[in-house]
Amino acid sequence: MKGNTSKYFNYFLFIIVISFFWTCSPKLSYEVKSFLFDGVPNPYKVEVTVIQDSLTKAKELNTANAVTSTAARNDLNIHAPYQERKCTDCHTRDRMGKPKLPMPELCNQCHEDFTKKYTNIHGPIATGNCTECHNPHQSKFKKLLKFEGQDLCLNCHTSAQVTENKIHKDINTTSCTECHNPHGGSNKFNLEKGSCYKCHDNLEKKLPFLHGPIASNNCSQCHDSHTSPSEKLLLDVGQKLCYNCHNPKEVKSQKHHQTMKGESCTKCHNPHGGTTANFLKISSK
Ligand code: HEC
Ligand code: HEC
Ligand code: HEC
Ligand code: HEC
Ligand code: HEC
Ligand code: HEC
Ligand code: HEC
Ligand code: HEC
Ligand code: HEC
Repeated sequence: MKGNTSKYFNYFLFIIVISFFWTCSPKLSYEVKSFLFDGVPNPYKVEVTVIQDSLTKAKELNTANAVTSTAARNDLNIHAPYQERKCTDCHTRDRMGKPKLPMPELCNQCHEDFTKKYTNIHGPIATGNCTECHNPHQSKFKKLLKFEGQDLCLNCHTSAQVTENKIHKDINTTSCTECHNPHGGSNKFNLEKGSCYKCHDNLEKKLPFLHGPIASNNCSQCHDSHTSPSEKLLLDVGQKLCYNCHNPKEVKSQKHHQTMKGESCTKCHNPHGGTTANFLKISSK
């Protein structure tokens, strides 16, 4: 009987302790809950659909890429502060295994803040998951990357999701970063300058005068994704497309537009640029 009481007492104590941790901090609460139960959603993990096969693949790759032998150390790329044993730039002396600051603040002590550099931020950068792609100490791949080529991206974006968009059908083994900036960009898809010209005519070479959004690498201000059913993938038709940026009053007040009715602006102007500053299809003279 006595044994039973102390068992209940211990159980009671256990519940008190757990409920204390349960509420004290969301992070600790998550750690406690996930220790006790399976399937507790991690609020600190980026929400991306990850198909099982890519998870298995990621594990295999992780094992294959793990730096195991000291013999391979010569071909390692070592992070400067790690090589210089500036461990306390990132850890405190008493807690060497844990970073002393959350990311990206930890990295931004020395590196430029991508959220200031780019207007559009890639998902894992926004959530500070730098170590999803980089090893903070060393790696056998360049730029301290955990994986090489497409593998880096296909951890989170499954190949099925990627090839669903016909734009990616023929990329074969081209590295995703040939077209996408891994951290962010100035357009919706973080496309590097010139990505569209890998498959289409290079407008910069063709047209001496470039229209503003072309010069600033912002094709997606007029064109939707290649999955769009609209004509020429355009976001809007006719004058509306142009009035997204140009003031209708101003345009209509100009001499050359006095006789204009509802006709599309592209009847007279090339939307991408031209051989003159007004991008006219036919000389006004
Ligand atoms: C640029 C920052 C940085 C520097 C410098 C650094 N670390 Fe780390 N370290 C980290 C981060 C971030 C993690 C957590 C890795 C993760 O979450 O994947 C980590 C993890 C660790 C761990 C846990 C085990 C592991 O490898 O994941 C140990 C131990 C460790 N570091 C020791 C050291 C020592 C010793 C030094 C100095 C020689 C050092 N670190 C220098 C950022 C750094
Ligand atoms: C104490 C300063 C410091 C901190 C903190 C720091 N770095 Fe670095 N990092 C450096 C220096 C110095 C270099 C070398 C710069 C160069 O070569 O231009 C570097 C280079 C890099 C490179 C390029 C490596 C290469 O081979 O070209 C990557 C990637 C990188 N750091 C990622 C990170 C990440 C991710 C974090 C946070 C976990 C981080 N750094 C935190 C100082 C730091
Ligand atoms: C989705 C994967 C991914 C994530 C997440 C990521 N990086 Fe990178 N990072 C890359 C790739 C790929 C390169 C190499 C780019 C190249 O070679 O042009 C790189 C290069 C770098 C470099 C070297 C400088 C350069 O531009 O070549 C630094 C520094 C760096 N990353 C810091 C960070 C920091 C800090 C974070 C977190 C805020 C972070 N990265 C998160 C993929 C990533
Ligand atoms: C750690 C997981 C992770 C990795 C690794 C990763 N991504 Fe992403 N990616 C995301 C998340 C999360 C989003 C945002 C999804 C959303 O908003 O619907 C995203 C969105 C994108 C977008 C859409 C544009 C945007 O900013 O919303 C592109 C393009 C993209 N990723 C390309 C890449 C490329 C290229 C790589 C490899 C260099 C890569 N991703 C690696 C998680 C990841
Ligand atoms: C990997 C190659 C590739 C890249 C990169 C690419 N496209 Fe395309 N694009 C195509 C293909 C293939 C088609 C034709 C699709 C079809 O037949 O339905 C197409 C069609 C188009 C069309 C419709 C053309 C028409 O006559 O109907 C437009 C507009 C377009 N792309 C714009 C862009 C823009 C803007 C970019 C950059 C953001 C871009 N493309 C990047 C391959 C590409
Ligand atoms: C200001 C809006 C606007 C921007 C920005 C824009 N386009 Fe277009 N684009 C159009 C319009 C309008 C058409 C349809 C032209 C027509 O029907 O005569 C078109 C047509 C196209 C076509 C189909 C072939 C053709 O010339 O008719 C391609 C390919 C294309 N654009 C690529 C691009 C690329 C690449 C960029 C970025 C470098 C870009 N566009 C930026 C408005 C724009
Ligand atoms: C040849 C250039 C090119 C390469 C290589 C490329 N992409 Fe893209 N990607 C694009 C363009 C252009 C878009 C813009 C969307 C559109 O126009 O349909 C895009 C859009 C995306 C998007 C957001 C829209 C969507 O369809 O979900 C994601 C995510 C993405 N790419 C991931 C990747 C990954 C991961 C890889 C490597 C396996 C990759 N891309 C390789 C050109 C490329
Ligand atoms: C995404 C915004 C945007 C859209 C959409 C847009 N424009 Fe523009 N346009 C600009 C910018 C920015 C400039 C450059 C203004 C400057 O340099 O003063 C410009 C300049 C021009 C010029 C040259 C004006 C000059 O002062 O030399 C013409 C002509 C023009 N646009 C026509 C059009 C037509 C026609 C359309 C529709 C097919 C269109 N624009 C759609 C942003 C846009
Ligand atoms: C009937 C042909 C025609 C149509 C349709 C037309 N334009 Fe023009 N546009 C012109 C001519 C001609 C000029 C002046 C060329 C010059 O400088 O001599 C001009 C000049 C411009 C300029 C530059 C004005 C400046 O200050 O230099 C802009 C911007 C412009 N148009 C936008 C538009 C927009 C937006 C539309 C559609 C709503 C449109 N145009 C429709 C013929 C046309």
